[in-house]
Amino acid sequence: EMSPEEIAFQERIDRNEKIEPKEWMPEGYRKTLIRQIGQHAHSEIVGQLPEGNWITRAPTLERKQILLAKVQDEAGHGLYLYCAAETLGVSRDELLERLHSGDMKYSSIFNYPTLTWADMGAVGWLVDGAAIMNQVPLQRTSYGPYSRAMIRICKEESFHQRQGYAIMMKMANGTPAQKKMAQDALNRLWYPSLMMFGPSDKDSVHSAQSMAWKIKMNTNDELRQKFVDQTVPQAEYLGLTVPDPDLKWNEEKGGYDFTEPDWDEFYQVLKGNGPCNKERLGARVKAWEDGAWYREAMTAHAKKKAARRSA
Ligand code: ACO
Repeated sequence: EMSPEEIAFQERIDRNEKIEPKEWMPEGYRKTLIRQIGQHAHSEIVGQLPEGNWITRAPTLERKQILLAKVQDEAGHGLYLYCAAETLGVSRDELLERLHSGDMKYSSIFNYPTLTWADMGAVGWLVDGAAIMNQVPLQRTSYGPYSRAMIRICKEESFHQRQGYAIMMKMANGTPAQKKMAQDALNRLWYPSLMMFGPSDKDSVHSAQSMAWKIKMNTNDELRQKFVDQTVPQAEYLGLTVPDPDLKWNEEKGGYDFTEPDWDEFYQVLKGNGPCNKERLGARVKAWEDGAWYREAMTAHAKKKAARRSA
């Protein structure tokens, strides 16, 4: 049964009021937000790795500059999101500790390797495309700081998606070998991109409550369907084939019928058994450990300054 506070809170949500940091909120609402915003922040940070992998090997100076800027944007997104999570009373150190110990997740997609330059195109097109599909509705999410972070992030994310598609256009209209690379990238990243939206609605444990609280605005399957409907014509325009023999336009539902991703594979990746889980988490832990001297120096400096001020 809901308490009077909970009833009043739900009424505010139903009126589309934003909830701000110092205001009363149910513990479950706070916990769900810390989980989702924290995981989202981790995804942005871990998400720098598969693309960072290609900065030194970008084919031209211009491509290198674009990729560098894009990977830096992802770091910025991570920082906005950690700030949003901190307003809920969790420290950044604790969130990072929980990432590094494997207690908190980050998006499954970043546990797949980026094998060729065409993957930079496919990541921008598909992965950032899926990210925007999920994040545009989150601009209207009920928690003020999360909603405001999403507004800024979505602006940059659409540039990321377009730069990816631009690479795909170049590759798909290039030499036969380049076109083959583009097709191969699509083949490998299609299903992992569909998995980004989370398990199918019948297996999504958090959706019902998160939607009642307007933390999530759509179900996982709704957004996955929208993504497929938007992306298939883009693949056709590139002259590439979506790796799904059962993909078919369904006039009645006004959308495509498509094959679901392999959910066993999805749960294996979540458990840490994807192709790159160990490498990705290892890189983050190493970065944290390598930065210890810097954090110590900053703390020592702040202490010295404070002592000088009080003297
Ligand atoms: N990768 C890793 N874990 C996932 C994924 C995924 N693609 N999809 C679902 N999960 C996890 C959930 O976190 C949850 O686990 P938990 O209880 O341990 O936290 C479990 O699977 C069950 O899924 P749901 O009940 O459907 O979880 P939820 O309601 O949180 O929905 C979703 C998942 C759609 C990803 C939601 O959290 C969300 O919209 N998050 C914000 C967007 C985001 O994180 N994007 C990051 C990737 S894109 C990018 O940043 C570049």
